Amino acid sequence: MPVTRPHPETTMAEVPRTVGEALRWAARQVRAPQPRLAAEVLLAHVLGLSRASLLAHPERALTEAEAAAFARLVARSAQGEPLFYLIGEREFYGMPFKVTPAVLIPRPETEHLVDAALEWARSRAYRHYGPLCFADIGTGSGCIAVALAVYLPNSHGYATDLSEEALAVARENAARHGVSHRLTFLQGDLCTPLPEPVDLLVANLPYVARTEWEALDPAIRNYEPTLALDGGADGLEVIQCFLAQAPRVLRPMGAVFLEIGAGQGAAVTALARAAFPRAVVRLLQDAAGLDRIVAITH
Ligand SMILES: C[S@@+](CC[C@H](N)C(=O)[O-])C[C@H]1O[C@@H](n2cnc3c(N)ncnc32)[C@H](O)[C@@H]1O
Repeated sequence: MPVTRPHPETTMAEVPRTVGEALRWAARQVRAPQPRLAAEVLLAHVLGLSRASLLAHPERALTEAEAAAFARLVARSAQGEPLFYLIGEREFYGMPFKVTPAVLIPRPETEHLVDAALEWARSRAYRHYGPLCFADIGTGSGCIAVALAVYLPNSHGYATDLSEEALAVARENAARHGVSHRLTFLQGDLCTPLPEPVDLLVANLPYVARTEWEALDPAIRNYEPTLALDGGADGLEVIQCFLAQAPRVLRPMGAVFLEIGAGQGAAVTALARAAFPRAVVRLLQDAAGLDRIVAITH
């Protein structure tokens, strides 16, 4: 897609000085699937206003500082930087999450993982077990762990990641949503930092195969952390290690919900059956009908 790349020196002078004109100008520069929407989100972020109030007041004048800040973000977007890193936030499960380039931007598909885990946890509660203990392996921004802790008030969770920088973001997100006291963040490889077995394991681990790397959207490949994406030669290396560790850290009658790539259903189901020969292993689809979650229940 041909993209206009504004020169950083000239852009500021070019930014029109009303909201309406600035939005039209920016929509021609930004690199995003919905350029007008991206322009609105960026300008709303700079002005600290809602998109609705921007649209209601297209005649509002921009100050020099506002125009300059907007021009800088538009220029970065024109270079391909993802919108959610530019504004530092992404909504997940109805809640805002801080995101930085140290963490994967939470994806809507991953909300299905939370749905499936919550459904299992709630059905378990009807069987009158005690407080639930869960672990989110490869927590990144903490979006899965925080959503589970918010929606399962009678729970405690562990969240692990190799990246200390990601864990710092996840801790902030837990604090923002008032669940820090029920989440423990642990640095280390997959399940190895867990101090005790858990009832519920959830994981969205890297699953991009090396052969798929070049075909990845450059906005993902160039900006999101390689550690969050790279699943090794066949995309299954990290998932395979996780499934090898999981039986040792899952309590009897526990469950595992694992996000997978759309073409990995058969391979991961086979790995899951080998790791948990007595469990029920199911493949769940996302809203687009693609295989997205491997569910292991007892
Ligand atoms: C695909 S991202 C998912 C992040 C978040 N759970 C989400 O759904 O948005 C995978 C995460 O796993 C972490 N990770 C990769 N390899 C790991 C390993 N061996 N042990 C622990 N975490 C790992 C990455 O740092 C990254 O944060």
